[in-house]
Amino acid sequence: MPDAREHKDRNALPSAARDAMERLNAEAGKYNIWLRTQANAPSQRSWFNSTSLDVSGELASGRVAANQMKALPHRWRWKEIGPYLDRIAEIARTADVPPIEFADRQQFLLTNPGLGGRLQVTSVIRCAISTYNPGDVAPVHMHTPNASRTILSKKGGYTTIEGERCIASRGDLILTPTGAWHDHGNEDPDPVVWADILDFPLLEFLDVNWLDEKFTGALEGNSLAQAATHTGDYSHRLYGKGGMVPTFVPHQRGIWYDTTPMFHYRGTEIRETLDGLKGEAGDPYEGVRLRFVNPVTGAAIFPTLDYSAQLLRRDEATRWKRETASTFYICLEGKGATEVGGKRLDWEENDFFVVPNFLWRRHINTGPGDAVLYAVSDYPLLLKIAQYRAQGRLADDSVVELAR
Ligand SMILES: [Fe+2]
Repeated sequence: MPDAREHKDRNALPSAARDAMERLNAEAGKYNIWLRTQANAPSQRSWFNSTSLDVSGELASGRVAANQMKALPHRWRWKEIGPYLDRIAEIARTADVPPIEFADRQQFLLTNPGLGGRLQVTSVIRCAISTYNPGDVAPVHMHTPNASRTILSKKGGYTTIEGERCIASRGDLILTPTGAWHDHGNEDPDPVVWADILDFPLLEFLDVNWLDEKFTGALEGNSLAQAATHTGDYSHRLYGKGGMVPTFVPHQRGIWYDTTPMFHYRGTEIRETLDGLKGEAGDPYEGVRLRFVNPVTGAAIFPTLDYSAQLLRRDEATRWKRETASTFYICLEGKGATEVGGKRLDWEENDFFVVPNFLWRRHINTGPGDAVLYAVSDYPLLLKIAQYRAQGRLADDSVVELAR
């Protein structure tokens, strides 16, 4: 396929025939057809031929790609955005009608500056930062988007999923897969803050997004929270030891399929596991990285999204890597920088940033100690549609294909 620049040139060719077809288009549009007067204009450069570091996608132009948008590399600083949660909470404390009543949640959503104000950080991923004041309850519900929450506040708050009450602490990853009943709340004395991450934009695009609030199971007292039908640490007791799974449960929780039965990862255990591997060589492109997987199948925890945690040791800088997948990051600890698409995104604790697909990137730990990032990418989705590829650059700057 010729590259996008050639397409542009061809699209600029003056032609009486083209003019004649445009006139026909003006007439034929009412029948919902379009006479082709422009060549296709892909927005990505050829993967194998365009390998220099400054290669990036560009918006395709013309009628062929009308309304196309592309996610940009971007970082959201906690110092700038975090205070808005306090302001929401303050309004809620004195409100005539609390925000949770009219907006369902007390949160702000991250918007990627390349995506025209849509409530998404990549083509597939949405991220909202939520706070729950003491006593708040988000009533039990279920939906098709896969969702997770990464806990940012120190301690407190809960999510109950399919009868499992998950009490949250900083660094925990709590999963609400597609088709699993869940509710949230906070019975602790301090406000709770977490980052919700969902595949909502993809499901919306595919028009398979729905929500159900007619829970028929047992509720807890008079509240709209589901009763906890499992005793504490259920996910952990069933699946918390690597390499062992119980034989007496169905491993499918909720009404949908192909999602993980393990709903709760503890931040302390994630950190301990990373620490235990700190002396290993690690991955030159990722540092010491752990993927969260379905403990029964080894597959990604959601069919669409892959979750991981990675530790960059003091002074560690990864090699350059690029993927056809897009990745969204949360910094849990330390400080560093990610160079991507000609930008340098400095980050520190609770900052968020996005590395869009196809762009070369590398991570650098610039702090005095370890840095820990949690990452979410659409890798499993791209793998399923046979579009996943990754490349790396060696020390001599040569480009190698990486195993997927
Ligand atoms: Fe939900």
